[in-house]
Amino acid sequence: MDKTLVIGANGQIGRQLIGMMALANMPVRAMIRDLSQARNLEKLGAETVVADLEQPLPDEAFADCDKVVFTAGSGGKTGADKTILIDLWAAVKSIDMAKKHNIKQFVMVSARDAGDPEHGTEAIKHYNICKHFADKHLLESGVPYTILRPGRLTNDAATGLITTQRPDNKDEQIITRADVAACVLQCLDHSEAINQVDELYNGSMPIAEAFIKAVKGRLG
Ligand SMILES: NC(=O)c1ccc[n+]([C@@H]2O[C@H](COP(=O)([O-])OP(=O)(O)OC[C@H]3O[C@@H](n4cnc5c(N)ncnc54)[C@H](OP(=O)(O)O)[C@@H]3O)[C@@H](O)[C@H]2O)c1
Repeated sequence: MDKTLVIGANGQIGRQLIGMMALANMPVRAMIRDLSQARNLEKLGAETVVADLEQPLPDEAFADCDKVVFTAGSGGKTGADKTILIDLWAAVKSIDMAKKHNIKQFVMVSARDAGDPEHGTEAIKHYNICKHFADKHLLESGVPYTILRPGRLTNDAATGLITTQRPDNKDEQIITRADVAACVLQCLDHSEAINQVDELYNGSMPIAEAFIKAVKGRLG
């Protein structure tokens, strides 16, 4: 069975994804910043590897892995310098390592306005630009990709219901972190998700169905 390296595994989406993968018996290696974060993730059944995303990434983190999920981020409380270092540069380094290690799917947790930062929220334009160029690097890398662009994240309970169509009402352009984690799981488990880019919002369609509809829509 494929083994997946989750980068940003101790994050709010990352931890939920690790839990879901463990329940599904999917082999997973959790990349964490600090050894103190290992215990909880290992209890769930994940292997752990410690790496600081601001430093060169170790080959051993990627060795023997088939897939990579990038769900790291500098967070809203740091400055633009950290956004560049993590959301852009660490993502680029991870993609380059994925290429080097012949990774067969790289799932990027991107953001709603990464496709068009010029028309996104002005206050986080720098963030959207970083996400844009990280996605572009992945698209041009030759590594099989799945790019997920969620709207504003919430900590509400999972609904299992999403849409990949952007709602007109900005207040509805949201999705729970639990549902994003479930979407990542869905993409890891289904080859149709490879080489797809989708926005993600809570909606009215079960996750599996929404992805099938999105793929069919693209095929015409
Ligand atoms: N907030 C939103 O509304 C929104 C919307 C769309 C997309 N997103 C994106 O969704 C993704 C995940 O979101 P989330 O809420 O799960 O984020 P989160 O809880 O802030 O998790 C981010 C993870 O990145 C890790 N990280 C940051 N700097 C690191 C470093 N130097 N070395 C190693 N690890 C580092 C953090 O490690 P520690 O646990 O050690 O801090 C944390 O585990 C992010 O890429 C974010 O940009 C967010």
